[in-house]
Amino acid sequence: MTRKLLVTSALPYANGSIHLGHLVEHIQTDIFVRFQKLIGNTCYYMCADDSHGTAIMLSAEKKKQPPEEYIDAIRKEHIADFEGFYISHDHYYSTHSEENKQLSEDIYLKASEAGAIKTKDIKQYFCEQTKLFLSDRFIKGECPKCGEPDQYGDACEACFHTYDATELSNPYSVYSGEKPILKNSIHYFFDLSKFKTIIYDWIQEDHVTEPVKNKLEEWFKVGLKDWDISRDAPYFGFLIPNTRDKYFYVWLDAPIGYMATTRHWCDTTKKEKFDTIWKSKEYEIHHFIGKDILYFHTLFWPAMLHVGGYQLPKKVNVHGFLTVNNEKMSKSRGTFILASDYLKHLNPEFLRYYYAAKLTSGVDDLDFSTDDFTNKINSDVLGKVVNIASRLGAIIHKYGDGKLSSISDNASDMIDAIRARSDKISEYYEALEFSKAMKEIMSCADIANQFIDSVAPWSVAKEDAPYAIQLCTAGMNAWRYIMIYLKPVLPQIVKGAEELLDSDSLEWKDLETVIEDTPINKYQHLASRIRLEDVEKIIGQEA
Ligand code: 2FM
Ligand code: ZN
Repeated sequence: MTRKLLVTSALPYANGSIHLGHLVEHIQTDIFVRFQKLIGNTCYYMCADDSHGTAIMLSAEKKKQPPEEYIDAIRKEHIADFEGFYISHDHYYSTHSEENKQLSEDIYLKASEAGAIKTKDIKQYFCEQTKLFLSDRFIKGECPKCGEPDQYGDACEACFHTYDATELSNPYSVYSGEKPILKNSIHYFFDLSKFKTIIYDWIQEDHVTEPVKNKLEEWFKVGLKDWDISRDAPYFGFLIPNTRDKYFYVWLDAPIGYMATTRHWCDTTKKEKFDTIWKSKEYEIHHFIGKDILYFHTLFWPAMLHVGGYQLPKKVNVHGFLTVNNEKMSKSRGTFILASDYLKHLNPEFLRYYYAAKLTSGVDDLDFSTDDFTNKINSDVLGKVVNIASRLGAIIHKYGDGKLSSISDNASDMIDAIRARSDKISEYYEALEFSKAMKEIMSCADIANQFIDSVAPWSVAKEDAPYAIQLCTAGMNAWRYIMIYLKPVLPQIVKGAEELLDSDSLEWKDLETVIEDTPINKYQHLASRIRLEDVEKIIGQEA
């Protein structure tokens, strides 16, 4: 039975360029989405820029631009970067939209009717130099639990403890570096504890992996705190209904941006009804996020969806961070690699393959190692995969008039062995065990290469050209299967394969057929080997 899915990646801030860290998530999501489409499911991929908040307001001011103009330019840049990596969003919108304003107000008013909104007069850090209240991401200090320095005001990246900014030791303003003062202000709070049972029950179902579930249960044990959803003017965002100078905290309207993007897409394309996606079980909602934003997506978000009358996510998939040569990405070390800098020097599909070869369903960090990247791409993509078509394509054109014949009798075990892997590979894609999927696919390529090397069609061709073409036909059929397996990861190379094989767009169900007695086109270059020095060019670019 086919399924219907709505898939999202976390919304990048409209304040800075896309880098290789963002791409871990967008490539992971995109591979999942392309896999779903390949097997015949209905799957739509929504994303947007996260356009609100103090940081964006200040960046726009610095550039002497209205924030709307500033976020618009960044959004265009983000879209171009994602397209460069073949990320196939069905829609890429912005949280600064009329749809998002309406949906945010509606959810807020429903929460208010449900008695889940309260106000409190709170003391908050205030930077006297800039005259701004300091939201969680603009105050740093030492983690109250483990003492790690330079932690944000909401959670520690070292021990994942969550806390209030006022609990940090030695706090300082990110804007000025100065010690802030405490100042009073009325804030609006979302009473999370009201949704304790709903969230707890949701966590018990199969929506997150076991380690993530354990983390959530720890948070439950500590107790669910009220969530501060308002920020004082000046702020770039949506005004809270019935207030004059209180704005929704960016994290309230950010996830609602998933819905607003869907609504805009539904209204413009008319492909589906918004309520069918977000309110009926006909659709599964799958989110992809980094481990730093787990709290928002697994505690606040299900509560907001519930109170708004929407369905809760089917999956929240959580990945780890990217390191470069085993160190945290850093501007000073030049390892804060921008998507646009990568694209100047290297083939985007190589990064897609490399990430796929390393990604699991877990939250472990993923390392981009320049040596390992070079070796893996040359050995797997070029040596094992592309090489098959370039070798066989040449023989078919030289000795067989560019036409496949029938599959040689000695090849059935080889072809069956490759086809027999399809269920396993499919399960790995579905379970986000891409690393295991790539290993299986590479072992299929090994099987194909061993066959080709053992029958040596280039030698046979000199004495028995028709038989050599049968051997090549066997090899090309194996390669066609490998191309189907790799299509979610290498969409452009597979497009080249479809052109070479003179084939319609390949789908998973094409594993049920073989191609024989059919012309193929001349091999056109699909990808080139890389050298370590080319890979090193992306390190140390000016950020
Ligand atoms: O952490 C971030 O980069 C946020 N901009 C992610 C938002 S995801 C969603 F909730 F909008
Ligand atoms: Zn800590």
